[in-house]
Amino acid sequence: MTAPDPACRWLPPRAPASLRTALARAGTPAIPLVRRGAHHGYLVPAAEGPLPAADVLARWRSDRPVLLRGVLRARIRPYRQALGETLRLFARLRRGARFFDWVIGRLAGQGVYQSVGSSIDLGDPREVEKAFARARGARRGDGDLWAKLAWIAHDPRDPSLRIRFSWGVEALQEWHRDPRQARRADGLAAALFPECAVLGGHRLLFDLLRHLTGGPVRLSERIVYNNVPGGGAVFHHDAEATQLGVCFGQLAGETAWLALPRRELAEVVAEVAHGRATLRRFLGTPARAFAALKDTREPRLDRLLNRDPVLTRRLVERGAAFRMRAGDAVLLPSHSREDVAWHSVFGIGRSPSLAHSYGIFAAAPSRHGRRSRANPRAPGTHPRPP
Ligand SMILES: [Fe+2]
Repeated sequence: MTAPDPACRWLPPRAPASLRTALARAGTPAIPLVRRGAHHGYLVPAAEGPLPAADVLARWRSDRPVLLRGVLRARIRPYRQALGETLRLFARLRRGARFFDWVIGRLAGQGVYQSVGSSIDLGDPREVEKAFARARGARRGDGDLWAKLAWIAHDPRDPSLRIRFSWGVEALQEWHRDPRQARRADGLAAALFPECAVLGGHRLLFDLLRHLTGGPVRLSERIVYNNVPGGGAVFHHDAEATQLGVCFGQLAGETAWLALPRRELAEVVAEVAHGRATLRRFLGTPARAFAALKDTREPRLDRLLNRDPVLTRRLVERGAAFRMRAGDAVLLPSHSREDVAWHSVFGIGRSPSLAHSYGIFAAAPSRHGRRSRANPRAPGTHPRPP
């Protein structure tokens, strides 16, 4: 077991403005945790020091988030202009600009990727547009690369957007199958967003990931996030077959997070549910709560996880909350669907933020398939979570 994080503090949604003003004057602002109209209270961040090196491996092994404060700060500086352009792009896309037109213009003249078309999946209420491209040297029969622009939530109160890069037939999850195509999709992301180099070219980060996972890694299935204050992502995990975890880098603005291992989330859920007659039978023990997390679409569980300030309070007081600022990165381990970091994200601050989130994959899959000292539990195989 690792020691709990230095806990942030939690204030209720009705905390008096005078208290919040006093805290802000003292340099510890009370950050509203509001997502799509649900007020989870205020987060008062703890002192944000670096994680002791000895804790990093222990946290990774125990499915805890590994917060790497400031590791991207120096690498962001050369990309300030690019980051500004990306933020302006998202603002235009929110106003209805055509994503594919921008992709065509961006790739033209680079000579490496060719735009081949776009589509809109009418069955996916979150998808805005999917732009397809082909890499020079790709063979006939290789699946097309794509960049998919989507709303983060199907909710008019949250205009947060994301762009995911992948290839092949999405419904068949072809992206697991061919690392060469995955690398081409990574390259497409970098061709459109040069700031991919902040994470993608970070030697120290790759060395750390090699240490944690037991072998060299690639960072693929890239997603560019534009979280808007008051929006964000509900509790979920990113356990996927072949994916060892996720690396999330905050490049501009801020986000607030709740993140902890599935088994600990189940303990907190059970603790809160046990005190409520309507939830006790369903979620009132850690074993029941752990099992219930298989399907977070269940309305009572969804409400407790994603709209209940009492649960948020318990999680904050347990040390599961942190704030991410530009230059910070966090690693979210996925050892299996059971042994995985669950997380929930809140858009905070004054303006939309920018972050990149990449899946961590073995560069040579067979090496990571065997159990290693650094990663004693081999990744499981399981479907994409809802
Ligand atoms: Fe995630």
